[in-house]
Amino acid sequence: MKHIGRTKIVQILTLTDFGIEVNVKGWVRTKRGNKQVLFIALNDGSCIHNLQIVVEPDKFDEHLLKRITTGASVSFNGTLNKSNGSGQAVEILASEIEILGDCDVDKYPLQPKRHSLEFLREIAHLRYRTNTFGAIARIRHAMVFAVHQFFTQKGFVNIHTPIITSSDCEGAGEMFHVTTLDFNNLPLTEDGTINYNEDFFGKQTNLTVSGQLEGELAAMAMGDIYTFGPTFRAENSNTSRHLAEFWMIEPEMAFADLNDNMDLAEEFLKFLIKQALIGCEDDLLFLSNRLKEEEKDKKEEERSMELIEKLKFVHSNDFVRLTYTEAIAILKDSKYNKNGKFKYNITGFGNDLQSEHERFLVEKHFKKPVILTDYPKGIKSFYMKLNDDNETVRAMDVLFPQIGEIIGGSQREENYDKLVARMNEMGIPSHDMQWYLDTRRFGTAIHSGFGLGFERLMLFITGMSNIRDVIPFPRTPKNAAF
Ligand code: 4AD
Ligand code: MG
Repeated sequence: MKHIGRTKIVQILTLTDFGIEVNVKGWVRTKRGNKQVLFIALNDGSCIHNLQIVVEPDKFDEHLLKRITTGASVSFNGTLNKSNGSGQAVEILASEIEILGDCDVDKYPLQPKRHSLEFLREIAHLRYRTNTFGAIARIRHAMVFAVHQFFTQKGFVNIHTPIITSSDCEGAGEMFHVTTLDFNNLPLTEDGTINYNEDFFGKQTNLTVSGQLEGELAAMAMGDIYTFGPTFRAENSNTSRHLAEFWMIEPEMAFADLNDNMDLAEEFLKFLIKQALIGCEDDLLFLSNRLKEEEKDKKEEERSMELIEKLKFVHSNDFVRLTYTEAIAILKDSKYNKNGKFKYNITGFGNDLQSEHERFLVEKHFKKPVILTDYPKGIKSFYMKLNDDNETVRAMDVLFPQIGEIIGGSQREENYDKLVARMNEMGIPSHDMQWYLDTRRFGTAIHSGFGLGFERLMLFITGMSNIRDVIPFPRTPKNAAF
């Protein structure tokens, strides 16, 4: 008899050479049956589907069979058979069983039933073992791979930018400090402030909020680059779309203006969506049904579009492009605004857009993704290129249904004098950032880039509604467990 070694369930489910001997290892999801026959649903993380193991109890020791419980890790040798049962094409008839790890089933928090997402967040160390979190983990991986695939195909070079920095790219002061100073015995200067000369790096440092500044340096030599790294923001926003630690993809292109930047962003997002549709079909189908189930008690008009249909819709439609000023006019004149339905009323130019406004434009007004450009300089970062009107900058935000802002980017100010002037106006310490300004002195060129929040992308692709559920171990205010 032909025997193959340990085989992953995703492969076993495609096999048709019935009669061969295989070995499979995994964790038991459920066990049911009677004295004549037992059916075990085994999952090994390789796909959403379980493998059915058929066990004839009289062939095995009773005590061994008792140890096959939900959560236990078990190895089975057996024959690959065509399954007569509904729900699966193949099954394994067990010939040898080895318990690899018993599960203390009375204390095991994952029972074979539906658990709330809130409960699963409290046991994030075990939630991978549920269908939902297994599917999300596999899709997350597929999206990481697709990011590198996209940029590699386009000739972009991946750059690793530092995680510890002394600058604040976004200028918002939302940084986690990095120090080795002893808080109970801080070295002080003569005027009583903390003496950072004594600190590990000899200056004040923090976790990076963005890899952009270093990305720009690389683009000014390599042409097209991208970063993909963790970023940290100490903003105290306890929303379903904010994390204190998240992953960001930041391409930067030399010789590219805002239009090129918008084209790249749209092409990139559509590529990622396509790869999810092609490569993650089973997981998406599962998540689509999960979403339907979650929303079954909602009114028709409050339900989201079916997940796969939504992905196809965004993939096959052009994004709407308009300026901030045009968007403000639409919002200001909207019935929503006039009837006071926005939490933040829109009064005119200069208003910062909240996610309620962004979602109104995308979900109610245009019913398509939207790219907004040319925001007032006062609400955007120092590095964005100033328009000739002296009021707006060449910024772009890509707004998505359900998410709001998924991408933020801009054309950069490449003119040395204008950039220094903006930094001084905004209180950015330009003397500490000579390294950044040098690119504007030594062969400057127009350039543009953006940042895609990886977990915001994951929210969109998976249809999950809380960002804490699309990263394995979320970091949010007052929460750094696991
Ligand atoms: O708009 P942001 O702040 O832009 C930058 O950091 C630029 N340096 C990017 C660039 O031009 N290279 O952030 C970019 C994206 C946002 O659009 C959002 O998707 C995501 O990062 N993001 C967050 N995601 C999760 N939690 C948070 N707290 C986030 N803050 C931003
Ligand atoms: Mg932004």
